[in-house]
Amino acid sequence: MVTIRVAQAAITAFQSKAIVVNHFEGVSVPGGGTGAVDEALGGQISRLIAEGEITGKRGEITRLQADGKLTAARVIVLGLGKREKFDLDTVRDLTADLCRYLRRTNIDEAASIVHGAGSGGLDPAACAQAMAEGAVLGLYTFTRHKSKVEDNKQLNALTLVESDATKLAALEVGVTRGVITAEAANFARDLENEPSNFMTPTDLAAAARQAADEAGLECVILDREEMIELGMGGLLGVAQGSHQPPKFIVLHYKGDPTTDKAIGFVGKGITFDTGGISIKPAAGMEEMKGDMSGAATVIATLRALGKLGPRINVTGIACCTENMPSGSAIKPGDVLRAMNGKTMEVVNTDAEGRLVLSDGLSYAVKLELSPIVDIATLTGAISVALGNVAMGVMSNNDALVEELRAAATQAGEKMWQLPMFEEYKEQIRSEVADMKNTGGRPAGSITAAWFLREFVDDTPWAHIDMAGVDNYEREKGVLVKGASGIPVRTLVAFALAKAAVPAAAK
Ligand code: BES
Ligand code: MN
Ligand code: ZN
Repeated sequence: MVTIRVAQAAITAFQSKAIVVNHFEGVSVPGGGTGAVDEALGGQISRLIAEGEITGKRGEITRLQADGKLTAARVIVLGLGKREKFDLDTVRDLTADLCRYLRRTNIDEAASIVHGAGSGGLDPAACAQAMAEGAVLGLYTFTRHKSKVEDNKQLNALTLVESDATKLAALEVGVTRGVITAEAANFARDLENEPSNFMTPTDLAAAARQAADEAGLECVILDREEMIELGMGGLLGVAQGSHQPPKFIVLHYKGDPTTDKAIGFVGKGITFDTGGISIKPAAGMEEMKGDMSGAATVIATLRALGKLGPRINVTGIACCTENMPSGSAIKPGDVLRAMNGKTMEVVNTDAEGRLVLSDGLSYAVKLELSPIVDIATLTGAISVALGNVAMGVMSNNDALVEELRAAATQAGEKMWQLPMFEEYKEQIRSEVADMKNTGGRPAGSITAAWFLREFVDDTPWAHIDMAGVDNYEREKGVLVKGASGIPVRTLVAFALAKAAVPAAAK
């Protein structure tokens, strides 16, 4: 694990294996920390700029030896790209790329000026947060199941160096927030990357309990018997095909003692989705170990909130089971009854996410949580609509969508709204029950959202379909191969923003 520190010093006098300065495209005379280092190096950086060796192109890395002219051994000049395009996402992604470069080239400790906080003109705390997030997210690896790790290089420490004493407190705040949030996203990644034989509903419940202990949360785990008592027919129906017992996980973060009101996050926790009797094709089925990403997101978000301590109450719910075909599994045509009494015709057992969420949402309504946000790898159709670029959001409340979108923008995670026109609802009308669990191919993500909406009554609610962005095949900026940890940082930002509003306005 990389440690991020803040230090007050002149970058030219800082002792480190490498100090990182930066350069914008099109700038001929370096200023700030880069200017100071340039001067100490006898104008070497400006010479390389004049010669066209250093262009400042986004992500360009130039490595120079300090040859005793600085306290540090070497200098790295990081290209920040064009100033007009520069923002916090650039800082976050480039820090991730940079940290992987340092690790790859065997530099186990480095120091950097705070990109963006000088001539970049961005808020220092936000820049420090983005750098901390970039480092922690970008260096993530998942090697638990390898008997031998071939490449054991590590970047152990990154120090953000700032000479202006008045900025230090803000930088510390940013680093703390960034490290806690990014570590939470990495925690979600760990849960998501874990194969289903190591991450059963029981394992997920144990992970939630441990997260609760670490972060001072209350944790309640409902077992099958309690689910039967509560009439959770959706979750129980999906679970009946599996030998693994289902778990209904509830985590409470209580940060505002002046009120009982709490917001609710509800996650889909299918620890493996075979499709059930409507079985999925073999190709790519291994990806379905990540069908509990919604649940992982909720657990990790609550852990981050417990550590950050904002003045707000948040309850996280995760509906966890496997979806297996077997002699005891639900079959197409079966009818299930959810906790709120509504009946659901199971036309396709592979549309199991909405079945388990029916009970999670009913439970959230019973606890009077508001608003309620559910998070799920719900439909393949969302990647047809939005690719692996953005998650989809569908809602009965546009103001809530705006809040979520603002939080996503702040986190550098993309979210786009799909419409919930009444016409789509007709597609899930059933002849035998209150609704059926698929509406056919057209607008598959929206009909799924209409199904979920049946369980939230009038509560302000939003559904995040993250099926296109839960896993990546290539490393890029803060994303690495495998689970993305999206949208943990969005939900943390959302809760923090809500906490910043006076209680009366919540
Ligand atoms: N877990 C899947 C959705 C999914 C697909 C997630 C690809 C990640 C990548 C979900 O349970 C599912 O199977 N949905 C079906 C619904 C259909 C049967 C109405 C789908 O999208 O095909
Ligand atoms: Mn499915
Ligand atoms: Zn699924």
